[in-house]
Order: sequence, then C-alpha cells, then structure tokens
Amino acid sequence: MTEETPVKTELCERFGIEVPIFGFSHAVEVVAAVSNAGGYGVYGATRRLAGEITDEVAQIRAAVGDRPFGLDLVIPNKVPERNDRAELEAMVPDQHRSFVAGIGARYAVPAPSQPGMRTRFIRSEEIQDAQIAAVAASDVNMVALGIGCPPEVVAAMKAKGKTTVALVGQEKHAARALEAGVDMLVAQGYDAGGHTGEVGTFSLVPRIVDLAGDVPVLAAGGVATGRHIAAALTLGAQGVWIGTAFLMTEEYAPHLSPGELEALLHAQTTDTVISRAESGKPFRQTRSAWSDEWAAPGAPKPLSHPLHDVLVGDILGAIIEHDIRPLQHYGAGQGIGWFDRLRPVAEVVATLVREGDAALDRAGRQRETAA
Ligand SMILES: Cc1cc2nc3c(=O)[nH]c(=O)nc-3n(C[C@H](O)[C@H](O)[C@H](O)COP(=O)(O)O)c2cc1C
Repeated sequence: MTEETPVKTELCERFGIEVPIFGFSHAVEVVAAVSNAGGYGVYGATRRLAGEITDEVAQIRAAVGDRPFGLDLVIPNKVPERNDRAELEAMVPDQHRSFVAGIGARYAVPAPSQPGMRTRFIRSEEIQDAQIAAVAASDVNMVALGIGCPPEVVAAMKAKGKTTVALVGQEKHAARALEAGVDMLVAQGYDAGGHTGEVGTFSLVPRIVDLAGDVPVLAAGGVATGRHIAAALTLGAQGVWIGTAFLMTEEYAPHLSPGELEALLHAQTTDTVISRAESGKPFRQTRSAWSDEWAAPGAPKPLSHPLHDVLVGDILGAIIEHDIRPLQHYGAGQGIGWFDRLRPVAEVVATLVREGDAALDRAGRQRETAA
C-alpha cells in the first residue's frame, strides 16, 4: 500500500495506521492480522474474563509489535451486581423454560458438556469491573465501548493514555458519548452484524458526522467492498469499522463450527434477520430454525438482557457443540452476501483498499469530465 492511496485520511497519521480500516473480531489472530495489514484491529473481549483479557492482549501485542490495536467491551447500564447464575435462574419464567426445552426435544439437541459462551459467566458489575481494570492495566492502544458509554470508564481509559471510541446507532447515543469525552465515534447502521439499531447506515453516518464536529467518525454496517469505503468517506466519515467481512477469513474459520461456517458461506444479503432470541437485545444473525422458532406464532417474547443469556446460553452452546444444522446460525450483517469463500485477512484488506482507491479515482474522473 502506497503513501498516496486515495482512501487514506487524516486519521491514519493520527493513529499510526496505513489505511482507515478498523476490523472488529472475536479472534486474536484476525485482530493481529488487520493491524499487520496496515489497518486497526479491535478485539471483541466482552465475553472474556479479566485474566483471559490480560493474556490475549499480550498475544496480540506479541504478534503486532508496535502497531496499534484496540479492545471492545459492552457495558450495558443495567446488569446484576454479582456473577451469580442461580440468582438469575430463579427469575426465568416456566413458560420460557419449557419453550426452550421444546426446541431442544424437537431438534434432538443433546446436553452440552459445559456452559455456553453466554452462560460461562453472568454479565454483571462484578465481571465488568474486573474486565475494565484488566483493560486499563493492559497496553492496548484503544478501548471501544459497544453498548453503553459510562463517562467514568472513558475518563479512566483516557487517563491511561488510551484512545476511546463509542459505537452509536442514534444521534442521542452520539450526544451522550461526546459528552463523556470519547475521541472517536463509530456510526453503526441497521445493516450491521451483531447488536444493531434501526437507522440505516446511509441515513445515520452524515447525521453523526454533523453532530460530531471535530471528533472523527467511522462508518459501520454493511461495509463490504471498497465502493462502500468510498461512499463512507464521501458521507464525511474518516474511515470504516467492519465486522462481517472478517468472519469469512482463513484466520477466523477455525473459530467456527462446521454448521456456522456453512451458514455464513451460503448466506445472501437477504438471509439475515434481527432477532432478540440471541441475547435479549436486537441482534442481526443468519436466519435459521432458531430465529424462526422464536418468531413463530405463540412463541414467548425473548427475556431482557442478561436474563435471556441464562435461558438460552447452554442450548446455544449445545447446538454448536453437537453441530445441529437447522438451528446453527451466526451473527452477521447484510454485507455477508458479498462473501462466499475464505481468504486471508491481508487479502481482504488489500482488496478493500484497491477497490476503494479505484472508486475514488473514478469519482474524481467523473468530476473532471463533467467540468
Ligand atoms: C458476530 C459479530 C459479533 C459482534 N459483537 C460485537 C461486540 O461484542 N461488541 C461490539 O461493539 N460490536 C460487535 N459487533 C458489531 C461490530 O463491532 C461492527 O460494528 C459491525 O460488525 C459492523 O457492521 P458489519 O457487520 O456490516 O461489518 C459484532 C458483529 C458481529 C458480526
């Protein structure tokens, strides 16, 4: 990648990166590969315990040397005080329990050998405080806050010299994050994989750019090709934040079960749904029997978060462990339709940059011709 690459923005110099592509991933290998490809890798660590965060940050640092990388935590404002599963279990209604047991019976899901990702601990103040302390003590360069943006966390991370970032899906979230003092916003639109809001990326990004003033904004949600990067820059963003494209990589594939990989490889743009059946909050994922069962007439409404985690965490773990295909699904955005094979992360980044440069060049030539 050359110095003159048209997709390069001011933000690159400020953050010590070559291209303004931020790659979110739950895999340390992907995070390291994005940073090593000249972008900014961000590790999704919200389901990791404090000790795991310390070890995994060290692994990424060893792989990237002095290149910057970030870490993402989700800190919702209403969670239980303690990491006490029994306390929440007592609050799960019987109707919900029997509905989930019914799905397990209909699809012959065996018991899991261990708690699922959503039940290995309870999202609680106790866990969050330990995670925040581990991140503050680590040498990660940037801390992103996915849901919730507590001012005291922003201040604590800034005091440690870390860049702070908030993901926002509405103008009111952006206003709160700016008030908390974040250094950058990610405007994440409806198209995005994982937890997402109702405003489309095209409608959201320019509104957040206008609101943010001097604070840089990244566009997220549906960024799958270089043309999307060119569009994001034209909307006023200084870069892009991508999750879905990095799922379909050689580095991420070992973290997927065969059924999850199959669901992602075959999914087209129309094959994702937003369902609260995953975590209790709206979560875009590949459509499957799991989302269909919860959307069927007579199905109970998903519980609130994190109570829903306790209800479904173990069966979701069992579905993955035993590869129960009709129920297998994965968090993914509408951009998944662009990806039908695995490539190395470096190739994904290089392709995005090449296509983005070409799209911006084309737009420039069109301007010249018109003049
Ligand atoms: C499987 C998956 C899990 C995600 N988990 C988180 C998360 O834990 N925290 C977070 O801030 N964003 C999470 N996201 C959202 C990403 O940070 C990013 O905003 C989103 O993927 C961008 O849209 P795209 O999927 O269209 O690229 C997740 C996305 C996916 C696909």
